[in-house]
Amino acid sequence: MDIRIYDTPAEIGEAAGKIFADLIRSKPDAKLGLATGASPVPTYQYLIGEYERGNLSFRGVSAYNLDEYCDLPKNDRNSYYTFMRENLFDHVDIDPANTHIPDGNAADIEKECREYDRLIEEIGGVDLQILGIGTDGHIGFNEPGDSFAPGTFKIKLHDSTIESNSIYFKNGDMPRYALTMGIGTIMSAKKIVIIATGASKAEAVKAMIEGEVSPACPASILQTHPDVTVFLDRAAAGLLTGEK
Ligand code: PGA
Repeated sequence: MDIRIYDTPAEIGEAAGKIFADLIRSKPDAKLGLATGASPVPTYQYLIGEYERGNLSFRGVSAYNLDEYCDLPKNDRNSYYTFMRENLFDHVDIDPANTHIPDGNAADIEKECREYDRLIEEIGGVDLQILGIGTDGHIGFNEPGDSFAPGTFKIKLHDSTIESNSIYFKNGDMPRYALTMGIGTIMSAKKIVIIATGASKAEAVKAMIEGEVSPACPASILQTHPDVTVFLDRAAAGLLTGEK
């Protein structure tokens, strides 16, 4: 793992954003794996800035999001569909037909999961995946468990995730289930960038980088991926000893 430590989220956004921008310039039909949450927002802001400055076009780009809540209307202010529009898609020239997010309201969830996997298998895995990490070590919504999920599936969110994400919802009406790419789907990405900032992520970051590879910390699987860059601020890196 290539570990890089910065002072501010904005610096991380610029550094991670440059990796995306360079890829898109060299491969205009790049397949991007995208994420929601606070961590990728500065990266998206950098990319929007590059588009506005005329330095970047998303015209040929395709996007594949990690996850989506179940039982939340697609246009709800807290859906990941809305998040992606507000934080990236509506501000650049990506073709909406080329943006993919699993449908957490599909009538046949199992079919939806298999079709989402097939979409990603057909492109041979995304070229570049951006990830955040949960305080419990989740990536996407792969919560700690007994095994690494191979493909997209429906998960019951853990209490710590519900607590972290409830800040966005009124009256405790945060969804309890989500669809998420599996660990196998995420690992099929050719290159991965993962971002963590703040002291609340320090334990999960330590387990990801210096702990044993175990589904107890889903992000630890990234130790076995050949091309992972970890972007941290000093607080998130605070428990690393540099011993692994
Ligand atoms: P955050 O979430 O980027 O909002 O901290 C990360 C995650 O839970 O995966």
